[in-house]
Amino acid sequence: MNKAEGGNAYIQKEYYLSPKRPLTDVEKELIWKKPISHKVSEEELRICKEVKRNWAREEMKIANILLEGDAGSGKTQLAKALSADFGLPYTKVTCFSDMDKSDIIGAILPVISDEHLHRMDARDQKVLKALYESDGFQSAQTILMEALQMTENQATSHLKDLMKKVSSDLKEDAVEYRFYPSEIVSAYEHGYLLEIQEPTVIRDAAVLMALNSALELDGSINLPTKVIHRHPDFIAVLTTNRDYHGSKPLNEALRDRVQHVEKMDLPSKEVMIERAIAKTLFSKQEVLSVLADCIIILDQTARANAIKGVAGMRSYLYWIDAVAAGIPAKNAMYHKVIYKMTTDEEEIRLLEEALCGHGMLEQLEEVETVVKKQQ
Ligand SMILES: Nc1ncnc2c1ncn2[C@@H]1O[C@H](COP(=O)(O)OP(=O)(O)O)[C@@H](O)[C@H]1O
Ligand SMILES: [Mg+2]
Repeated sequence: MNKAEGGNAYIQKEYYLSPKRPLTDVEKELIWKKPISHKVSEEELRICKEVKRNWAREEMKIANILLEGDAGSGKTQLAKALSADFGLPYTKVTCFSDMDKSDIIGAILPVISDEHLHRMDARDQKVLKALYESDGFQSAQTILMEALQMTENQATSHLKDLMKKVSSDLKEDAVEYRFYPSEIVSAYEHGYLLEIQEPTVIRDAAVLMALNSALELDGSINLPTKVIHRHPDFIAVLTTNRDYHGSKPLNEALRDRVQHVEKMDLPSKEVMIERAIAKTLFSKQEVLSVLADCIIILDQTARANAIKGVAGMRSYLYWIDAVAAGIPAKNAMYHKVIYKMTTDEEEIRLLEEALCGHGMLEQLEEVETVVKKQQ
């Protein structure tokens, strides 16, 4: 057993927060299963220990966590890993700039008569039926995503259109109203781990305030139908990309609500290589090392020159994958890394100069011979 597997085995159930809590089959399905390629990080162990240490201390509980840092540093995967470690279902919400209050709390929809329902177009009928038949455990977004095979974003905007349509056309016809909770409310009420992606982009102050009060440890949310209280197992993991070019920082009040923060950087070269081997199954050390050096140099050069794009783990993985498939390393670097950062001639020249200055271009040519020989 290698070290990382040992780490995984060691972590199993040791950090479960409510081991005796009964979960439904659907909830069990939502607990993330760590793939073999997952490597336990220092950050993960630290959070597990900290949360567990304070779990029973009501007023000192750690249940709002912020992971802030580079794109591709592993924030989302860490949030998912914590779901596995804590034994809590994983759910997520991706924030967007014009989020409104219904995105935080949920949607209220009239239950309309069969007669009216049959006059609506087939897609709307399908969605409304799915919503009416739901048991109130899934969020409206999830129901739409499943009924119409949509992405989270599409489901959100479709739901809004539908709300407008039914409430303007059919007000008089409504027999009753039903409330469909958002992903946030659902996680909050049932005690899941919720990843809140990029809350920095939210513009509406009222939405920020609603989110902020939802993060209070002993908080509650006022819904049109009832008041719900924060489930003692609810954990919010905020993930934000640190932007070094002065885009909006995380709202101060939200920031103040978190009880533990991890600064997530591009992982060390060793960790990059370890994760890459696990993911791509390509294991030629000398090749992985040169490619990692290039990524690190490109990342540093981008920061130093205010180039907006990032060179990170994702580019690294796809680059390795292309090289492993026999595409020349230098050529693949443009399509998997550099153009992803920028297509501006001047910026590309800066990046090339930095690579050249570190002797990376020759090393990339050597890589090509190594890979060719191997094939
Ligand atoms: N602990 C880990 N072990 C193995 N691979 C990881 C780990 N953390 C992240 N990765 C991989 O790195 C890439 C970027 O991770 P992700 O969590 O999506 O980053 P972020 O959310 O910070 O942008 C993904 O391909 C992911 O699978
Ligand atoms: Mg992410």
